[in-house]
Amino acid sequence: MKELKGLTFIFLLGIPVIVMVFVFGMYFLGCESTNSCTGVQEPARTSIPTLVAATLPAPQVGANVVPLGPKCQISAVELIGAWVTAGYPETEPFDFVDVTGKECTATYTADIERLFIEANLWYDGAPACTTCHYADVQKATMNLDMSSYAGILAGSGRANGEAQGKDILGGGDWETSLLYQMIYAPNGQSTIGRQVMPLGRPATAPANGPMLYVGTPKEIEQAAQP
Ligand code: HEC
Repeated sequence: MKELKGLTFIFLLGIPVIVMVFVFGMYFLGCESTNSCTGVQEPARTSIPTLVAATLPAPQVGANVVPLGPKCQISAVELIGAWVTAGYPETEPFDFVDVTGKECTATYTADIERLFIEANLWYDGAPACTTCHYADVQKATMNLDMSSYAGILAGSGRANGEAQGKDILGGGDWETSLLYQMIYAPNGQSTIGRQVMPLGRPATAPANGPMLYVGTPKEIEQAAQP
């Protein structure tokens, strides 16, 4: 009986003592005396070299590509303005003065049309105007077709495919035209409280749109003539 009691006593006292010794042993072996380690040792790893920074210049998109030949320099909004002010000719060249004061000419087909049908032109990632304002005017946003000369002249609001809708070219008076009011965006805002085009244009994009290298300086044109 006494022996059984002794064994039970040793058993009851001994087990917790063994457990405590074991736990403390693990703790001090794994972590020494710091209190912050997990006891898990970081395996030695082969270090991965950091990628070398790419040194090539970022590819230029849309309007920002500098052409090889002599070109004039003007913002998109001012170029469209010069075209509208000249009476928006389709094939005849129109005159404009570039940012350096150079006298230049451009045409709708070569220089204006692309401003409405090319993506990535007004800013990186910009949709083309024709993404929303396309030839199927009954479905196009604002029933406006910016994809062709005839579509632009026919204007907006052609819900039933009317031949003539609302004039967006101000009858040749650029600053009062709806087109100007929708694409001129000082501080990213239109002056008439509507969303600026292309829809989604960030406030950081320039008020007059991208700077373009377009047209032909007049001196060169004249020199080329006999
Ligand atoms: C992602 C679609 C989208 C794109 C791209 C887009 N527009 Fe628009 N456009 C709209 C919407 C939506 C409205 C109506 C906005 C409002 O009333 O505030 C609108 C309105 C207009 C209007 C006024 C029409 C009217 O009758 O009131 C003109 C002009 C216009 N856009 C021209 C353009 C031009 C030019 C571009 C390209 C530089 C362009 N849009 C790109 C969606 C788009």
